Amino acid sequence: MLFTPFTFPNGKTAKNRIFKSAMEEQLAQNDQPSEKLVRLYDTWAKGGAGMLVTGNVMVAESGKGSINDVVISDGRSLEMLKKWAKAGTQNDTLLIMQINHAGKQSPAVVNKTPLAPSAVPLVGMDGFINPPRELTADEINGLIQQFMQTDRIQTGVAFVDKKAGAMLEMNWYMTQMDLIGQGKQPNPKLSAWKVLLKTLWENGKAGLSTGRA
Ligand SMILES: Cc1cc2nc3c(=O)[nH]c(=O)nc-3n(C[C@H](O)[C@H](O)[C@H](O)COP(=O)(O)O)c2cc1C
Repeated sequence: MLFTPFTFPNGKTAKNRIFKSAMEEQLAQNDQPSEKLVRLYDTWAKGGAGMLVTGNVMVAESGKGSINDVVISDGRSLEMLKKWAKAGTQNDTLLIMQINHAGKQSPAVVNKTPLAPSAVPLVGMDGFINPPRELTADEINGLIQQFMQTDRIQTGVAFVDKKAGAMLEMNWYMTQMDLIGQGKQPNPKLSAWKVLLKTLWENGKAGLSTGRA
């Protein structure tokens, strides 16, 4: 079973069931993918994994969850992205990039004031993570655009893919934005997973694919 292929509903196939989950590598250099990151994925792909999901790749500087996160907000790092994509897709490996925004989970060393859908602080993080400032509706819209833009960056190989994490973040913001648009307060207690499941269900019903070539 471990060495039999698995095809996802969007048609992508992993050659086996060996799956490396998203793990924040903290190997960026000046926010860009580094040679160390390329070497890591080169090793994993050569090692025979069927599917590799990258750690958080942030869509904006304001969304960093650690000081050495990769940030892709434009085409600046295209050359290194291509190298990373090439390393991680060799040996018929399925490579998925997780795109993300850390919201209120951005530590003080990165963000003096994290940005989040609501100004509700995380509990027990004093000194490590500062209380967030509530995003304006325009800022939420801007972040949604960043998610869309990052998704469109072309590396020449299938790489930037929509992963549940990105959909979760984006739909979380969209739900909060809807509430703000209706003149209501954002709802920080709304289960993010509920939002994700609702979105996946609706996408499925609409026949939309969550992947891209
Ligand atoms: C060091 C480390 C970094 C992680 N970074 C991420 C991340 O960037 N994005 C994410 O969605 N999950 C992240 N996770 C969560 C893992 O992807 C995984 O969901 C979690 O470890 C639960 O799986 P397990 O029960 O097999 O350990 C991280 C976990 C670890 C241990």
